[in-house]
Amino acid sequence: MYNLLKGKKGLIFGALNDKSLAWNVAERAYEEGAEFVLTNTPLSMRFGEIDELAAKCNTIVVPADATSVPDLENLLKKTMEHFGGKIDFILHSVAMSLNVRKGRKYDDLDYGFLNKTLDISAVSFHKLLQVAKKLDAINEWGSVVALSYVAAQKTLYRYNDMADAKAMLESIARSFGYIYGRDKKIRINTISQSPTLTTAGSGVKGIDGLMDFTERMSPLGNATAEEFADYCITLFSDMTRKVTMQNLFHDGGFSSMGMSYNAMAMYQQSLDNTETND
Ligand SMILES: NC(=O)c1ccc[n+]([C@@H]2O[C@H](COP(=O)([O-])OP(=O)(O)OC[C@H]3O[C@@H](n4cnc5c(N)ncnc54)[C@H](O)[C@@H]3O)[C@@H](O)[C@H]2O)c1
Repeated sequence: MYNLLKGKKGLIFGALNDKSLAWNVAERAYEEGAEFVLTNTPLSMRFGEIDELAAKCNTIVVPADATSVPDLENLLKKTMEHFGGKIDFILHSVAMSLNVRKGRKYDDLDYGFLNKTLDISAVSFHKLLQVAKKLDAINEWGSVVALSYVAAQKTLYRYNDMADAKAMLESIARSFGYIYGRDKKIRINTISQSPTLTTAGSGVKGIDGLMDFTERMSPLGNATAEEFADYCITLFSDMTRKVTMQNLFHDGGFSSMGMSYNAMAMYQQSLDNTETND
């Protein structure tokens, strides 16, 4: 590999199993010479396989609920103790919607669930950044990345209240990116990833149809979890030091497409069928 992260120390949220985007990033970061601490909720640690990943990457796991400020303080302090100093990168790969899980439609949301969705999937990012800044946990030119989705900009049927959470997440990256950049030269970005078959991804109803659609509509096809990890490594590396406050689409071109040749052909064909079948 390229040793892009040699000497860098980090913190990775959200590796649940080997399908997780965060799991793929951890494996690639390890290959590129990084050292990092892994974290997830105590519950997911019981059901997931994170200990296996920790053993593979020769590291420790510190449990934390990303919505709890005391948990985040403990996590960042333990991480700094582990390394005997500050860190260089953080991956926030955390999301959950009880409205999606419980099948509540967007025009019939449970507002208690909505608050949870926003807290877990967006506000937790602000909490993490605020705690990290107060503890001065990140070195100058450090890099923080969170995971987003194009439903923040465009309506994708069934993405539900998670679209609102992603819009807020991207806004937090910009607002905090200004302050953390100005004060400490730390960069903050979101990567907007193609739909990917992970545990969270599979929770979105109709994900198979959606993935087929985006695969066909993207000139380069959907981005896989492995490709996501490659891209993420570049953002943690010193090769992207002036990239901040951005939402970066990693989606094979999908977000810039309106109509493709194949989709047009298919549309005309089904229109013709409708006409002849009448
Ligand atoms: N899979 C996709 O299609 C896709 C596309 C774009 C963006 N994303 C985003 O990628 C991120 C990671 O999801 P994934 O697809 O790898 O699925 P995943 O289910 O493997 O990961 C989600 C993680 O969030 C963690 N989590 C949930 N609540 C938490 C809390 N309170 N505190 C700490 N951690 C908590 C879970 O334990 C899990 O590890 C999410 O932000 C998701 O929205 C996913």
